[in-house]
Amino acid sequence: MILYRIKQFIWAITANLNLQDKEFIKYYLTDYELKLFNKLPVYEKKHSIKVAYDIKKFCEKEKKYDKNFLIKLALLHDIGKICNALNVVQKCIMVILDKITAKKLSKFTKIKIIDTYYNHGLKGYYILKKYDYSYKFLYLVKNHHNNIEGNKELNILKIFDSKN
Ligand SMILES: [Fe+2]
Ligand SMILES: [Fe+2]
Repeated sequence: MILYRIKQFIWAITANLNLQDKEFIKYYLTDYELKLFNKLPVYEKKHSIKVAYDIKKFCEKEKKYDKNFLIKLALLHDIGKICNALNVVQKCIMVILDKITAKKLSKFTKIKIIDTYYNHGLKGYYILKKYDYSYKFLYLVKNHHNNIEGNKELNILKIFDSKN
């Protein structure tokens, strides 16, 4: 776990979008979605793109899922992080504090970075709710860190989210 966290930190500080990434997001996102997406810090963009690449591969094997829907979901699942975005160091501190305090910090939502860290699913839901998304899409964004069982799409998102 610690090794994995170190790897994640290195990914984050060295994150950069290459040409393939840029073409990928342009292909799957509309103009206004791209505008929203570009407000994310680069390490969060890279994270969402990696989740989307994994989901694309998964859907190409498991043909029963709506690939375009899940790729767009992967790219936008953390869009709530555009509100008071955390830099890489703040994010690492939050990951460590979250572990040490067993999520007790989540009460302190008046502190903006804590609020973003714990509530970005809900924030993303409110951002996207102004546009024309299905109930299902909004539900998945809102609940991607919540313990809800039996939702296949949510499980897929959670698996590839935690891998990246
Ligand atoms: Fe998230
Ligand atoms: Fe995520």
